[in-house]
Amino acid sequence: MASFSGRHSRHLLGLQGMTPDQIEPLLDLAESYALLNRSRKVPRDVLRGRTLINLFFEDSTRTRTSFELAGKRLGADVINMSVAQSSVNKGETLLDTAATLNAMQADLLVVRHSQSGAPALLAQKVEACVVNAGDGTHEHPTQALLDALTIRRHCGRFAGLTVAICGDVAHSRVARSDIHLLTTMGCKVRVVGPPTLVPNGFKSLGVEVFHTMEEGLRGADVVMMLRLQRERMSSGQIPSAREYFRFYGLDQRRLALANKDALVMHPGPMNRGVEIDSLVADSDQSVIQEQVEMGVAVRMAVLDRLTRGRHSA
Ligand code: CP
Repeated sequence: MASFSGRHSRHLLGLQGMTPDQIEPLLDLAESYALLNRSRKVPRDVLRGRTLINLFFEDSTRTRTSFELAGKRLGADVINMSVAQSSVNKGETLLDTAATLNAMQADLLVVRHSQSGAPALLAQKVEACVVNAGDGTHEHPTQALLDALTIRRHCGRFAGLTVAICGDVAHSRVARSDIHLLTTMGCKVRVVGPPTLVPNGFKSLGVEVFHTMEEGLRGADVVMMLRLQRERMSSGQIPSAREYFRFYGLDQRRLALANKDALVMHPGPMNRGVEIDSLVADSDQSVIQEQVEMGVAVRMAVLDRLTRGRHSA
């Protein structure tokens, strides 16, 4: 579901259908927030009087914390609703929870949920702007935006870049959002992994599918590794972590197949020694910590953009 224009302009639910004309200005705004963050000169009044509620039904370190930081840096009142200690545990439904938060007149709801489509459902029931912070295997739009910003900062362009997204693509909302965004911006996107985790059906999203790292990494400008999401797997999808690393782990030898100075990315959390070797994760080619930094800037841009011109609740 597209955002920032048309019927769903007050929500960010996904990137599928967004155009370069919508993405580039958002990345420009995020870049300006990245610079302001570094100089500690963020204007504190952008979200003054606004209330942001983080509603995370799944675990998170980076996304929840960076939305909290983003909201606070821009002057919002930020509440982290602890789902583990909420009335969800007494059987309250997602929609009743939404109605309750709606009655409290929140301006922004940032939602992570295990079910694909849960933030979109919620968006139909509340007055607040809803931001999808990751839903099932569907989308994780702010992650893809921060990935794109990181790539643009290093490569200066998208057109013609070859990006290899490697690993557990099947269960990855990050991969889907990155595919939508990066193909829209003109990148050549490859998905690389075992057939159990990289089904050929992905070709319909406009990507090339590879089942060996040796083929998929050759000539890549960006190598994006994904976490093995064992919590979403049925048994038998991978033999063992050690076997997986042997065939699909990113180590220095495999990275050397990509273009010289190829960027190494990972959305986190990383499983070191499972999908990525520490020598690569911590190398000069790794931009993994910069991805985290850009996450705050991108979320500031999204919160700013969604609320601009809207009356407070
Ligand atoms: N990349 C990402 O979504 O990380 P968290 O699960 O820590 O938020």
